[in-house]
Amino acid sequence: MKVVVGITGASGAIYAYRLLEELRKRGDEVILVISDAAKKVIRFELEVDIEKLYELATQVFENNNLAAPIASGSYPVDAVVIVPCSMATLAAIATGQADTLIRRAADCALSEGRPLILVLRETPLNLVHIENMMRAKIAGAVILPAMPAFYHSPKTVKDLVDFIVGKIFDVLKVPHNLYKRWEGERDG
Ligand SMILES: Cc1cc2nc3c(=O)[nH]c(=O)nc-3n(C[C@H](O)[C@H](O)[C@H](O)COP(=O)(O)O)c2cc1C
Repeated sequence: MKVVVGITGASGAIYAYRLLEELRKRGDEVILVISDAAKKVIRFELEVDIEKLYELATQVFENNNLAAPIASGSYPVDAVVIVPCSMATLAAIATGQADTLIRRAADCALSEGRPLILVLRETPLNLVHIENMMRAKIAGAVILPAMPAFYHSPKTVKDLVDFIVGKIFDVLKVPHNLYKRWEGERDG
């Protein structure tokens, strides 16, 4: 798989880090772009520095490089995952503002009918956020909020994070054991 991973400045950089680790384990090709705001958040939230994230990618581009291959829909990729996705980037995607590489890659994914997964993180949500989610969803994006479940009895933060990474893999149709699936309650 060739996947674009865009990291934006919402809280939850750890979701991106774990996704990159898992994609690397699988041997997928990863094209990584990190927004300026995300670089700041990564410094606050992760114990590893940004170089470690870059090492997990196949190729890295700056977010202002609108001449990168992924800025064109003619460049084939299997999916674009924005994780975590800020409300600012959601708003840009929902309104067609392709003014950064991450936003442009998302725009191209929608144009080409390729999977675009937005791992949103904000709470509480205002009406603008909700309307933007609706617009992005109608345009073809998968709205995948960073909203871990508890039915798989998570014991650690990693368990919670891996639940979301597993959900991303579910959308990408990638087999995984990142969380234990609900098997249903037995009668009697
Ligand atoms: C520590 C920190 C945490 C933030 N968390 C969020 C968040 O969870 N969700 C969000 O939408 N924005 C959050 N922001 C604000 C975004 O970083 C800001 O809107 C930025 O313009 C997003 O730009 P980008 O989408 O290009 O990365 C946070 C900012 C900082 C400094």
